[in-house]
Amino acid sequence: MTKVFNTYSLLPHNTFGIKATAENFVEFSSVDDIMAFLGNGYNGNSLVIGGGSNLLFVNDFNGTIFHSAIMGMEVVKETEEEILLRVGSGVNWDELVAYTVEKGWGGLENLSAIPGEVGASAVQNVGAYGVEAGELIVRVETVRISDAVCQEFSHDDCDFSYRHSIFKAAEKGKHIITHVTYRLAKNPTFKLTYGNLSEKVEELGGATLANVRKAVCEIREAKLPSPDKIGSAGSFFMNPVVDARFAESLAKEYPAMPQYPLPNGDVKLSAGWLIEKCGWKDTPHEHVGVYRHQALVVINRGGATGKEVLDFASAIIESVKKKFGVTLNMEVNVID
Ligand code: EPU
Repeated sequence: MTKVFNTYSLLPHNTFGIKATAENFVEFSSVDDIMAFLGNGYNGNSLVIGGGSNLLFVNDFNGTIFHSAIMGMEVVKETEEEILLRVGSGVNWDELVAYTVEKGWGGLENLSAIPGEVGASAVQNVGAYGVEAGELIVRVETVRISDAVCQEFSHDDCDFSYRHSIFKAAEKGKHIITHVTYRLAKNPTFKLTYGNLSEKVEELGGATLANVRKAVCEIREAKLPSPDKIGSAGSFFMNPVVDARFAESLAKEYPAMPQYPLPNGDVKLSAGWLIEKCGWKDTPHEHVGVYRHQALVVINRGGATGKEVLDFASAIIESVKKKFGVTLNMEVNVID
């Protein structure tokens, strides 16, 4: 079934809680539906959204927004070691994680309690606690908007890196993702090296999929605002990466600065720490601020417009640049 709406409120479709409308909003529940809607293809202004948990609408959207309501999870291959699970792009992300944990299939447990839907996991390569979704993705199926042609992207085609994929680069805005296939392990190995995760898991009785999920949910709950209570889009900025020499000079001046060396010799810094040290936890504006437990998260304190959020974010970027000489890039997809 395809539902088409005009002058449609996007308030329930963005976790920031920004008031904006879409000229047209199209929601479909199967590949056939979206193919039928597209006909020979659509070449107007368009945007594909998932759960709206990584978007900032600065204006009303003039054009067509597509939203997948393709559901379902299907085991497409099973061996002694692994499961290939093909999932509809409209499936809620955390429902997928909960299902795999319940089944005893390992891989996604560290990615518990992330808002959003399956399609977006492939676009922005969602990551947390030492795991990125892209590591588990073996195939992404899409329909190309301009000519309604079905396409398949292998893991390598997707070109995953930190919060990045081909769907944010050369193929940006061109595809509607319909299905994502994940490779899951029947004999899971656990990744518990991030922060205090292993400590939390021990407290819960040791490493099982259910305990890892529970520990991650508890850590997230303590640090990140729940989207149904406080408007935000999770991390607003990406953690910046700098070269080793610059990182060393920063460490000399700020010995407490968290630094994470990367395999290529560069160093990843913590945007949350940099923002906190610029004093933003203590300087909220009327409608916007940063979350008190995690400065990387810009929040809507009530009634914020997209423009106010964007201006606030720009002021943060400027202050971090001035104090540390580090440039922050936005992780949130700003729709202007
Ligand atoms: N920190 C501060 N002050 C803050 C925030 C963080 O000092 O206000 C320090 C922490 O104490 C810690 C370090 O910065 O030493 C890192 O903080 P944290 O573990 O909270 O992780 P992060 O690097 O700030 C990233 C992801 C999160 C993900 C966590 C856990 C990005 C942009 N963000 O945050 O992802 O949950 O790691 O893996 O990479 C999201 O994308 O929406 C998101 C929440």
